[in-house]
Amino acid sequence: MSQPKKLFIKTYGCQMNVYDSERMAEALGGQGYVETKSPDDADMILLNTCHIREKAAEKVYSELGRYKGLKAAKPDLKIGVAGCVAQAEGEEIMRRQPMVDLVVGPQSYHRLPEMEAKAGQGAKVLDTDFPEEDKFEHLKSRPKAKRGPSAFLTVQEGCDKFCAFCVVPYTRGAEVSRPAARILDEARDLVARGVREITLLGQNVNAYHGAGPDGDWSLARLIWALNDVDGLERIRFTTSHPNDMSDDLIDAHADCPKLMPYLHLPVQAGSDKILKRMNRQHTAEQYLRLIERLRAARPDLHLSGDFIVGFPEETETDFQDTLSLIEAVQYGSAFSFKYSERPGTPAAERAQVPEDEKDDRLQRLQALLTRQQRALQDAMVGREVGVLFERPGRLEGQMVGKSDYLHAVHVTAEGIAPGDLRRVRIVDSGPNSLTGQLL
Ligand code: 5AD
Ligand code: SF4
Repeated sequence: MSQPKKLFIKTYGCQMNVYDSERMAEALGGQGYVETKSPDDADMILLNTCHIREKAAEKVYSELGRYKGLKAAKPDLKIGVAGCVAQAEGEEIMRRQPMVDLVVGPQSYHRLPEMEAKAGQGAKVLDTDFPEEDKFEHLKSRPKAKRGPSAFLTVQEGCDKFCAFCVVPYTRGAEVSRPAARILDEARDLVARGVREITLLGQNVNAYHGAGPDGDWSLARLIWALNDVDGLERIRFTTSHPNDMSDDLIDAHADCPKLMPYLHLPVQAGSDKILKRMNRQHTAEQYLRLIERLRAARPDLHLSGDFIVGFPEETETDFQDTLSLIEAVQYGSAFSFKYSERPGTPAAERAQVPEDEKDDRLQRLQALLTRQQRALQDAMVGREVGVLFERPGRLEGQMVGKSDYLHAVHVTAEGIAPGDLRRVRIVDSGPNSLTGQLL
């Protein structure tokens, strides 16, 4: 038998890319590839890239530069660029880095096996189509090997919102939802392989409207159907737009037993002027009312958000409005970014905030968010939570898992295995994780 070929995939950006990388590795498995953890012994290197901020794209070019020596030493080595930089920059990548053999966009990676074969014959191959066919229908069914207790499952891709700063509607295209039956099949397969928690993914996941047996299903409908999958214990979803937070989804947070009390609901900014210029299509007040309704449905809900500081024309007063909104919400976790100019998006044309001002605002914003995050984490001490254990910790006898609210929790006890879901009392709160005792 011939030696398996080795595939090194490096994933940048969001969880959807993590999911896509898994599916790409599975697709190339049919070509005899097995994954390796190092680029040094790889026969193929694939960078699954992110274009959301300028730095994310620049990192890809510097990483490619690092492979020059490898390619020179091993001319058969194939180098591919996938994901959103591939989609956005296409041929430009091959011009800037002629050693790249193939470029594949996020909607056409089911064609990777053919592309790999062509690259093997010395061709340069590029495919950044938005094909009519659904890539998931063309990918081989997922392998049956056992896997960890927590998995991602992409249910929706693309976005029709066109926030003025964001490249997603251009790189990932229009909103498309996968059929409900396919998602349920994939979820059952994952559960059969040991998965107990599924995070449903989509760039705008709560806009999900996939075909069901009796017309289009909402995300809430899909979550309720997943709630009936035996062996699946936890359901999460990310990432959502406030305007697609429908009544049935809010109700699911009150009533659906397996839906976890954690919600990532980005608002980006707290000033109505900036929200309008961002084309977010809601006000700060509307967002706060929505949070109230969600907390009425699920009082212990932990909220997470995304924030952009230094959006064009953001003044200190606008920024203060963002801080006030954060004070009003009390986030359990959050991601915050300096605005990054993306060519082709409307905000790139407007008056930019100086870099040092952005730095200063980001620091102040992150200080507030860290304080909130820490306070909510400390408030867990003394409480009982469910913990889904994932892996051994660094200390002897220790296991690490995730709480219902997504905190990392360490427990030292005998007889816990990855995949166990146990009740735990939280006894201590450290900088990045909680310590618990089994109940
Ligand atoms: N600059 C900075 N942050 C951005 N995001 C999206 N586009 C930009 C940009 N041009 C952030 C938003 C989004 C998250 C995924 O990335 O906060 O919610
Ligand atoms: Fe980008 Fe999210 Fe806005 Fe869509 S809703 S354009 S993905 S920030």
